[in-house]
Amino acid sequence: MDFNKIKELDAKNYLTVFNRLNVCFVRGEGNKLYDSTGKEYVDFMGGVAVNCLGYNHPGLVAAISGQAARLIHISNIFYNEPQAVLCEKLVENTIFDRVMLVNSGAEANEAAIKLARKYFFNKGEKRSTILCAENSFHGRTLATVTATGQSKYSAPYAPLPGGFKHAPYNDFEALKAAMTDDVGALMLECIQGESGVVPAVYDYLVNAYALCKSRGALMILDEVQTGTGRTGKMFCFEHFGIQPDIVTLAKGLGAGFPIGAVLARGEAAAAFKPGDHGSTFGGNPLACAAANVVMDELLNTDLLTRIERNGRYLNARLSKLKKHNFVADVRGTGLLQALALSDKLKNAEVAGKMLHRGFVINACGNNTLRFAPPYTITKDEIDALADSLADLFANTNI
Ligand SMILES: Cc1ncc(COP(=O)(O)O)c(C=O)c1O
Repeated sequence: MDFNKIKELDAKNYLTVFNRLNVCFVRGEGNKLYDSTGKEYVDFMGGVAVNCLGYNHPGLVAAISGQAARLIHISNIFYNEPQAVLCEKLVENTIFDRVMLVNSGAEANEAAIKLARKYFFNKGEKRSTILCAENSFHGRTLATVTATGQSKYSAPYAPLPGGFKHAPYNDFEALKAAMTDDVGALMLECIQGESGVVPAVYDYLVNAYALCKSRGALMILDEVQTGTGRTGKMFCFEHFGIQPDIVTLAKGLGAGFPIGAVLARGEAAAAFKPGDHGSTFGGNPLACAAANVVMDELLNTDLLTRIERNGRYLNARLSKLKKHNFVADVRGTGLLQALALSDKLKNAEVAGKMLHRGFVINACGNNTLRFAPPYTITKDEIDALADSLADLFANTNI
């Protein structure tokens, strides 16, 4: 179909929730994408930290097509082998005791919030409040926009669910003051992704963990963006030596196939009883077949080491751009990196120019450019990106 026709249909039919860029991708191969004119792009966005194995990955394609031919969906009132195998991998190779599978990050966070509340309900304790961070992002459902510490995402949807409050991120004293007796769980991102790839300060997260322990509150970490290897470890919290009670995963878990997960340990893992929560599609055989490939790549190859090494290289190459007065910061861990710009230069303008040059990068919150490429990105591709950005910035007169 002609691209103009696609745009016309989209403008006519789709709810007006997206400002789309003027490109229609039709296929991908490795770390490259191809648009409807045949133009090639190197992908440093990865479908926003999702397409972690790149495009047309032979193992992923074989697993999905093989499973599609056998059994796509079956109700969760029956057993299914790919699900049992995936959950065994998620439990045996992590600190967690149990898993529940859903379809997205927001749903994983909903499940985490419900699990924390059920834990205190079972104990007969009135501790339903979920303490979250300002500038966080946890999803688009009513509960998760309320947990999200950015009122632009929640204000139009009032009345919002009760039982959420917020404290400034990376401010331990403020967190301590907000940890009142009604707080049952603290919910944080180890790196605030959507609001500009802002990492938790080491002491803040470690002290927050100790505070949860001393107050008997659960710690929920939203690793929807940072989990399944993105930062060079299976979970980002491993960089901090802490052990949260509940963690959520989604984006990278299915390498593009929709799947989310909530993982819990200890008493929190026993809080749900049959009927307390559920999902029609969550953990269906097709989604689990995809996630099994991702887990195998992470567990049985040197992928985590490569993420760590190439992440450091990407950070080093981007850091050279700090010589420009409009580059405010370069930060991130593993293959989740960001370049923050000063007010003088708009991130969307840079992302647009880079798209024209054949590089897909993401303009995210607080005038930041986010880099979340497939884990398979190569040093040569990083060099090509950095050289092109350097050339663009050298020719930017402000
Ligand atoms: C940290 C975090 N949590 C939750 C979500 C929501 O995930 P989804 O869009 O799959 O519902 C996102 C999405 O960007 C995210 O970055």
